[in-house]
Amino acid sequence: MKVTVSRKAHFNAAHRLFRSDWSDEKNQTVFGKCNNPNYHGHNYELIVSVTGEIDPETGYVMDLKVLSDIIESEVEDYLDHKNLNLDVAEFKNLNPTAENISVVIWNKLRAKIKKENQLEVILYETPRNFVTYKGN
Ligand code: NI
Repeated sequence: MKVTVSRKAHFNAAHRLFRSDWSDEKNQTVFGKCNNPNYHGHNYELIVSVTGEIDPETGYVMDLKVLSDIIESEVEDYLDHKNLNLDVAEFKNLNPTAENISVVIWNKLRAKIKKENQLEVILYETPRNFVTYKGN
């Protein structure tokens, strides 16, 4: 019997989507407002879900306080109030799209979650736009 437990989190960050090997015109066409050279911010909402067996002793799949602490140290402390392009090593040469941010977050969390549990992250860049990564 597998059960999924989830924790919501939040961070603010700035980014710019562009490729330096493309013309200004092509960047504008492909990335639109997210290509603003002076960066812009998003209020990112994150849902982290861990799926696994219920521990018969505790009744938990995972202590959500522990998950909350991991999200705080691995994601919030790392990304909140940062300029993703300039401040975060993973995005030096990688466009900080919601897709790529979700993969970076997943990789950081994966290292801290029990191997036998499955991990999924859902990242909202706007209230209506969100991406899901499960490590596939
Ligand atoms: Ni944007």
